[in-house]
Amino acid sequence: MARITAGVATSHVPAIGAALDQGKAAEPYWAPVFAGYEASKAWIAAEKPDVVILVYNDHASAFSLELIPTFAIGCAAQFAPADEGWGPRPVPVVQGHPELAWHIAQSLILDEFDMTIVNRMDVDHGLTVPLSLMFGQPAEWPVKVIPLAVNVVQYPPPTGNRCFNLGRAIRRAVESFPEDLKVVVFGTGGMSHQLQGPRAGLINRAFDTAFLDRLVADPKGQAQVPHIDYVREAGSEAIELVMWLVMRGALDETVREVCRFYHVPASNTAVGHLILENPAP
Ligand code: DHB
Ligand code: FE
Repeated sequence: MARITAGVATSHVPAIGAALDQGKAAEPYWAPVFAGYEASKAWIAAEKPDVVILVYNDHASAFSLELIPTFAIGCAAQFAPADEGWGPRPVPVVQGHPELAWHIAQSLILDEFDMTIVNRMDVDHGLTVPLSLMFGQPAEWPVKVIPLAVNVVQYPPPTGNRCFNLGRAIRRAVESFPEDLKVVVFGTGGMSHQLQGPRAGLINRAFDTAFLDRLVADPKGQAQVPHIDYVREAGSEAIELVMWLVMRGALDETVREVCRFYHVPASNTAVGHLILENPAP
């Protein structure tokens, strides 16, 4: 059967993608950011997942205020990089896994998570920057990717608890797929950041550190934290962190922390990153 071996959480700052694409990764501002992912790149090269379920949010690239799915799953064979205003990123087209994606869609919907099924979608920095951070700049992505988009752009986003329970349902879905596949779940976005208004640029290291600790050790408790606490303490865009709870819900209660990284500055965002392994079966 298919199984989830690990979870990866990471910020998805667009300027990180631009730094890589424009050959600026070695510049003093960016070098410490990319250095923080070196061990993670080695880890995933050794882990060799067949499929990544990539939980991210679309930033008005594929969706808009005209159409706002709370949870959407990409069932297509391919997903092209979105044009976010400067042309599409020069990264490989993302290869999907339609058979597993349709199986997960069926399992989730029958499990009472009413997913939007997406058969055509361009993917923005929310999805491509985490791939770049974990895999660098290959000619082709070395893994199939199932995009799972969560609305955290237009109020009301789903609760942390709903996201955590979606992760548990994703695990049930994956473990009922008969083919032997190694699956890693990515949760992306965050950490503290606010992009607009008088508090633009807000960073809260204490909040972020507590979130990292609690996501590892007490995810059910973290899942109870209301939206307003994220927004008040860590900025309006910190609400993206509920997507990390989807990843955490797909793992065992007790996990092994294999990588942790936290760095400020990176554009307007505190960059946070975790890799958590499920104990071997
Ligand atoms: C930035 C961060 C994001 O998560 C995003 O979606 C857009 C911009 C930033 O820090 O600049
Ligand atoms: Fe974002």
